Amino acid sequence: MKFSVVAIAGLLSAVLAHPETISRREIQRRSAISKRCEPSAASFNRRRMEKRWPGRGNTTYTIQTEAPYFDAIQNDTCVMSPILTEGPYVWPRSQTLRQDMSEGQPGIPLWMDVGVIDVNTCEPLPNVLLNFWHCNATGSYSSFTALSPNTPFLELLEQLGIDEEDFTIGVTDLHTDDSTFLRGMWPTNDVGVMEMKTTFPGFYVGRSIHIHVQAFTDWTLHDNGTVSSGNVVSTGQLYFGETMSAELMAIEPYSLHTQINRTTNSIDDIFSVGLKGGYNPVFSTVPADGNDYANGVIGFITMGVDPSANGIDNSMYEQE
Ligand SMILES: *[C@@H]1O[C@H](CO)[C@@H](O)[C@H](O)[C@H]1NC(C)=O
Ligand SMILES: *[C@@H]1O[C@H](CO)[C@@H](O)[C@H](O)[C@H]1NC(C)=O
Ligand SMILES: *[C@@H]1O[C@H](CO)[C@@H](O)[C@H](O)[C@H]1NC(C)=O
Ligand SMILES: *[C@@H]1O[C@H](CO)[C@@H](O)[C@H](O)[C@H]1NC(C)=O
Ligand SMILES: *[C@@H]1O[C@H](CO)[C@@H](O)[C@H](O)[C@H]1NC(C)=O
Repeated sequence: MKFSVVAIAGLLSAVLAHPETISRREIQRRSAISKRCEPSAASFNRRRMEKRWPGRGNTTYTIQTEAPYFDAIQNDTCVMSPILTEGPYVWPRSQTLRQDMSEGQPGIPLWMDVGVIDVNTCEPLPNVLLNFWHCNATGSYSSFTALSPNTPFLELLEQLGIDEEDFTIGVTDLHTDDSTFLRGMWPTNDVGVMEMKTTFPGFYVGRSIHIHVQAFTDWTLHDNGTVSSGNVVSTGQLYFGETMSAELMAIEPYSLHTQINRTTNSIDDIFSVGLKGGYNPVFSTVPADGNDYANGVIGFITMGVDPSANGIDNSMYEQE
């Protein structure tokens, strides 16, 4: 996996302080591509939903739920994946090739049904390795379990005696253990789709509920089970609708996380970067049992990636 060494001044501010420094030109470019692929993304999502929910995915408004948060298949789930921040809890060593990354973590089951399309053609893209990581129901990341999810990141660094200037995402080693829960990767199949089962994430200080994702078009599985991956074509974060999140967070064990108040999408800085970036990184969801999200969630999303992209997109850090 390839990480550019970018000074913390740049990345941390992208994480925490001024993430909205994406250039206007780049925003326009992504919006245009996202718009162009919208019909393809909509029909791609619909076909997948139809497969899981025979008879329900064919029209926009037939999905009946107790509470119709997303009663429509979202057209705008074509994620124009920019190179958004990986965040401080990226830890490639703990990523495992598997289709169920829950490892018994308590909480509500989540099945992520992810489609990938090539933004140049709007066609499904097979054999793209998708790499996911997120926190557990009470906000902890595996491999970093000794770091409190309730302490703001800069304070954590201070406690660890690490100067802010010396911290580089993906380089500075903050890991505290070798646990691997809620980290996994799996490739898209022949028709550009993959599924990953996990446990619905909770939240940690300052961030709305999200799942990190990276896409690789160039990767190799070794005999010893490890994966080496080259071309990072996208790094992003995926989100959930606020109404469903509020419902799920009221249920144990999520509700036991009372030490901090949850940051919602509307006040999360990084979420707004995504929106401004011309894409909608919010899962379309249906209750897995057709009835109640408390029993499990299926999330559909289509990511648009540019296979010719490579590594860090510096335009993310340009000033307007
Ligand atoms: C979704 O996209 C389809 C196909 O482009 C279009 O016919 C439909 O009106 C769109 N629906 C919404 C809700 O935007
Ligand atoms: C969706 O609806 C169209 C038009 O009614 C029909 O031709 C098509 O067979 C349906 N597709 C599925 C998968 O049911
Ligand atoms: C989340 O992980 C932390 C660290 O391993 C653990 O203490 C906590 O109990 C976990 N949360 C739940 C709900 O199991
Ligand atoms: C697995 O195999 C790859 C390729 O031969 C090698 O680079 C890597 O170090 C091996 N990893 C382990 C943990 O043995
Ligand atoms: C959460 O927000 C409420 C309302 O603003 C406030 O009264 C409460 O003290 C906050 N709780 C924590 C743990 O910050």
